[in-house]
Amino acid sequence: MANSSHNSGDNAGASHGHDHTPVPLQSGPVNNLSGTVSVPGDKSISHRSLLLGAIADGQTRITGLLEADDVMATANAMRGLGAKVEKVDDEWRVDGMGNGALLEPEAPLDFGNAGTGSRLCMGLVTGYDFPVKFIGDASLSSRPMGRVLNPLRETGLQVESAEGDRLPLTIHGAPLPVPITYRVPVASAQVKSAVLLAGLNIAGKTTVIEPVMTRDHTEKMLAGFGAEISIKTDDDGTRHITVTGQQPLQAQQVTVPGDPSSSSFAIVAGLIVPGSDITVKNVLLNPTRTGLFDTLVEMGADLTISNRRQSGGEDIGDIRVRSSNLRGVTVPAERAPSMIDEYPVLAVAASFAQGETHMQGLDELRVKECDRLAVTARALEANGVDCTEGEDDLKVRGGTVNGGGSVETHLDHRIAMSFLVMGMAAQEPVSVDDTVMINTSFREFVPLMKSLGADFN
Ligand code: S3P
Repeated sequence: MANSSHNSGDNAGASHGHDHTPVPLQSGPVNNLSGTVSVPGDKSISHRSLLLGAIADGQTRITGLLEADDVMATANAMRGLGAKVEKVDDEWRVDGMGNGALLEPEAPLDFGNAGTGSRLCMGLVTGYDFPVKFIGDASLSSRPMGRVLNPLRETGLQVESAEGDRLPLTIHGAPLPVPITYRVPVASAQVKSAVLLAGLNIAGKTTVIEPVMTRDHTEKMLAGFGAEISIKTDDDGTRHITVTGQQPLQAQQVTVPGDPSSSSFAIVAGLIVPGSDITVKNVLLNPTRTGLFDTLVEMGADLTISNRRQSGGEDIGDIRVRSSNLRGVTVPAERAPSMIDEYPVLAVAASFAQGETHMQGLDELRVKECDRLAVTARALEANGVDCTEGEDDLKVRGGTVNGGGSVETHLDHRIAMSFLVMGMAAQEPVSVDDTVMINTSFREFVPLMKSLGADFN
């Protein structure tokens, strides 16, 4: 049965990336950033709250949901699968279909630029005997989906794609999918989460073995929604996460904390712009997400966390940042999962640090919204920063940054934001070729940074 209801609504998820007109921006040197800001909701938690809300019994209410293109694409996809998703005042409401009761979508699910939304949704629909077509923008269509499709195929999932496990593709769950035990071969929360979500509508127990811990929002939220989930951790840290399929989930009230990845731009700006003193409030401090903050402190950053509290099972707090003289450090590979999206902005911080910063274990950066390792290195070079790009590492030798360069962003929001931050403390302004993609994660970035004292034009 094809579903015709709730398929309309905000189409923001598809609004960019399909041949949009680029909007370049230049960022010039400034002094004395000041102010207190809040960043929008965490992207990972926002996606998950919509996905679980759609399959829970009852109405899930979400405050602080990130209203950026990536998350709106997931909201649209949940509408396409039959759930009612709407915003009432400051709250998002998801009328869940019940576990196992999603409907066959009438139209392709368009995920725009959203890797997390698309991969988690592939897992979510794996236990359903109907076809679902996934489409996305040029960046998403170039990203490898085999990492999630391969384990999902073990359940009996059929995949049709023209271009070797890249979008556009159509998947069709088996009539009687089988539960799997899967050892995740790369440190990826998306792969872990896709398999766990698949297990929700497969009879029996689905287990993910995770040798290296990645962000644990899926596990936490599944427990919060009343799923049958157990986690065992071996002495060496390997985690065994098991869900029992075909059990009901209960709608929840979710409060989404501020996104630490989005906060990192203001935080690094506060460190490198002379005379700054800023505070970012209400930041998620889940230890699987705070590798950047640990690294910056090792580099000599003056960061103080106050008002530590718990909300919705997550640690949060306020971060005060004052300008600091940074020094280069080695960032070990083990830390990569807890700061995987923060390397471009760390590279910017490292450009202003005395000595060399050596970031190790960066192979996963090559399959992000762009090849973030190569694109970061080219952007550093374009601004006169001395760096060496290895197979899976990056060395940045910092000091004074000339700037004056023009950065190619390759449809990557985090590259754009990171190098606008660089321009705030370089000798000469830094330009980025496009800022439209910033809307995928952080619509408020430009006004928020301007409110702290940035000179963007
Ligand atoms: C995410 C996991 C990470 C991260 C992405 C969000 C998630 O990707 O880069 O921005 O919400 O699960 P990988 O799982 O591919 O490392």
